[in-house]
Amino acid sequence: MLEFDLNNIDLTKEPDIQEPQRQWYYIAKCREVIKARSEAYGRPLTYCITTFGCQMNSRDSEKIAGILKQIGYVEIESEDADFVIYNTCTVRENANNRVYGRLGYVGKLKQKHPGMLIALCGCMMQEASAVEKIKSSYRFVDIIFGTHNIFKLAELLQIRLDSKRMVIDLWQNTDMIVENLPNDRKYQFKAGVNIMFGCNNFCSYCIVPYVRGRERSRNPEDILDEIEGLAKDGAVEIMLLGQNVNSYGKNLEAPMTFAKLLQEIEKIEGIERIRFMTSHPKDLSDELIDVMKHSKKICKHLHLPIQSGSSRLLKIMNRKYTKESYLELVDKIRAAVPDISLTTDIIVGFPGETEEDFCDTLDVIRKVGYDSAFTFLYSKRTGTPAAAMEGQVEESVANQRFDRLLKEVQKISAKSAGKDEHTVQKVLVEDISEQDSELLTGRLSNNILVHFKGSKSLIGTIVDVYLDESKGFYYMGSLVK
Ligand code: SAH
Ligand code: SF4
Ligand code: F3S
Repeated sequence: MLEFDLNNIDLTKEPDIQEPQRQWYYIAKCREVIKARSEAYGRPLTYCITTFGCQMNSRDSEKIAGILKQIGYVEIESEDADFVIYNTCTVRENANNRVYGRLGYVGKLKQKHPGMLIALCGCMMQEASAVEKIKSSYRFVDIIFGTHNIFKLAELLQIRLDSKRMVIDLWQNTDMIVENLPNDRKYQFKAGVNIMFGCNNFCSYCIVPYVRGRERSRNPEDILDEIEGLAKDGAVEIMLLGQNVNSYGKNLEAPMTFAKLLQEIEKIEGIERIRFMTSHPKDLSDELIDVMKHSKKICKHLHLPIQSGSSRLLKIMNRKYTKESYLELVDKIRAAVPDISLTTDIIVGFPGETEEDFCDTLDVIRKVGYDSAFTFLYSKRTGTPAAAMEGQVEESVANQRFDRLLKEVQKISAKSAGKDEHTVQKVLVEDISEQDSELLTGRLSNNILVHFKGSKSLIGTIVDVYLDESKGFYYMGSLVK
């Protein structure tokens, strides 16, 4: 990554108008202020980021952390910090409620913590109604920014330090992708890499396209450079991130398919495992299946959200596949990669969902036999087409269906659990076990956790483990020496 020498930036001059140079200028400027404060307080200044939502947000939080570290802040877990950031999600109503809950708490902390700054960013901030509510009911918030201008954090902080007023900077949309900004990775041995931003699919229930903007793919050269850098820096596993990775590259100047990108990434020395999220069934190509079949590095796991098993509802959801075409796709994938683990997302209680539609969903999950499934109660998102649809399902009916679905999912995933018992598998060692400090925890290629005895020094490496016993959602194993 291109690093700027912060000591060589002339702060007496006006900032550059070019990005990212402009932001390196502001980072250097904020760093002076934070240094002075830290000297006055006789301690380092701290920050705490709380991340809601999906892996896109987790990745964005690493970028935020990268900027704050360069400025001189030190990360702590507690919200009793000098700079508190909430990176929000708005995919379902309860995600928003959790943010308001945290704000109530941190507002009280701020009264006792002189100089504390609070910033809100992420998907929820892209909604005018949420921002209005914060402006009127949570006046103590200092900075609000959105999903398109995270790279500007240092500049916004500088404005706040100068003005003492609430700073709000929200962009409706952009096609700008700023490369070469600081970045603070959570793990040394694995990393998320954005390959695209935004979404063009407009599934009728979903707010993501409105809050994340239109689909934009990063240039393959930038992605490959980043991954090469990560590999040199010790990463063995990468997770390629996008709302619909299967449509990667369609709108690049020189169009490129996701399958081709994977083949290029496969060549990078040091990278042992490649994962990706999320795959939209409508764009999953035969070319991709073929690449997965022949790859030595792509993990044997595919997250393939179905949302509903009813072709009638899928049409209204604007998903552009049917129950039958989805099942055919699953057959094709299983024929090419027989030991692949399949997971999915399902929504219950979409407007107009009948008992018959719901039974179609149960039927599909039985037929596919998912390894696991994330189940969600439909949540009405203002501004999406589904919010205005007739036949919103009564809460009690939706709840009942949700419970039935959950039971079925548990039954089905119990069946596929344990299929690798008594075999030796490759495990990426991730950490010391949270439950038992004598044990290590790692992941199989299909993403299942394994606990086993071993030395801490193995963290970040791939080892052979014999799977002694399946415990349902994880295995107990022994290291093969
Ligand atoms: N881009 C991904 C999904 C991102 S959102 C894809 O298309 O697969 C993650 C999941 O949240 C979705 O798969 C869907 O199951 C769920 N979701 C999205 N909007 C929702 C809503 N309004 N109510 C309930 N669940 C929703
Ligand atoms: Fe939402 Fe559909 Fe886009 Fe996924 S593909 S983010 S569900 S609109
Ligand atoms: Fe939530 Fe935004 Fe992800 S709405 S699910 S954090 S893209």
